[in-house]
Amino acid sequence: MQEVSHTRPLAGRRALVTGSSSGIGLAIAEALAKAGAAVVVHGLVPQAEGQALAAQIADAHLVPCVFLEGDMSNADAITGLIEQAQAALGGLDILVNNAGVQFTARTENFPIERWQSVLNINLTGCFVAIKAALPAMQQQGFGRIVNIASVHGLVASVEKAAYVAAKHGLVGLTKVVALENAEQGITCNAICPGWVDTAIVAKQVTARAERDQLTEADARRALVQDKQPMSRMTAPAAIGDLVRFLCSDSGQTLTGAALPVDGGWTAQ
Ligand SMILES: NC(=O)c1ccc[n+]([C@@H]2O[C@H](COP(=O)([O-])OP(=O)(O)OC[C@H]3O[C@@H](n4cnc5c(N)ncnc54)[C@H](O)[C@@H]3O)[C@@H](O)[C@H]2O)c1
Repeated sequence: MQEVSHTRPLAGRRALVTGSSSGIGLAIAEALAKAGAAVVVHGLVPQAEGQALAAQIADAHLVPCVFLEGDMSNADAITGLIEQAQAALGGLDILVNNAGVQFTARTENFPIERWQSVLNINLTGCFVAIKAALPAMQQQGFGRIVNIASVHGLVASVEKAAYVAAKHGLVGLTKVVALENAEQGITCNAICPGWVDTAIVAKQVTARAERDQLTEADARRALVQDKQPMSRMTAPAAIGDLVRFLCSDSGQTLTGAALPVDGGWTAQ
């Protein structure tokens, strides 16, 4: 019995991870399922693909796992997603706001539609999801909210006006939600990764390779070394492990934090 609670510290918990059909979100969904949580996998992939992914996670970790769609730039769709997740799992204890997009251009050339869509998905979508999930968490006296921000929630880089604004906003939102719910058994934290090896960075690697006539491998290394004292990217699974810790009983007083996982980027 003791061994079960040690290896499955999240048994009985119910989690929604947005944008979990790929990359960091998928690694978080896997880490939570491995720890025993029932999980909603969410993303923009076709139903059949999403359902196959959910079935794979359910089989591998022997937990309930379902796939749900929902456009994170649409407030009604997000509210519907939270309701469907609550219905599918019988409630929601853990919300991980992970879905996000990137667009790069200098500020004077930044298309307003791109600014709005990055802000909608990376910031407003998180606010709407938290707003919809909070009442039931408050009622049950337990909740874990984890926002996947970025080092760009703490410092800036050129050509990322919308992304940096949204992620700084997400760190601020995290602190407000943590303060408002400090006595309700609910924690809210932001994780601020540096470079993580996923699809979202692939375009930036390709652009760097073309600009400097480098191989993809050399371009990846050059991008990381521009910013991080450690020249390796973080593995998505490492972010999953940190989310699992934040959702565990040991994380109960860790709230309102913006935690860098960035190879020393923001230590400089
Ligand atoms: N990869 C990195 O280096 C890095 C660093 C810091 C922060 N992040 C953040 O981590 C999060 C995950 O990124 P990733 O690297 O895994 O990239 P990714 O592109 O693999 O994942 C992004 C996910 O968001 C989903 N998504 C995007 N727009 C959506 C929308 N409108 N509605 C619903 N879902 C939508 C996608 O379907 C996908 O599942 C993002 O918030 C990103 O900003 C990534």
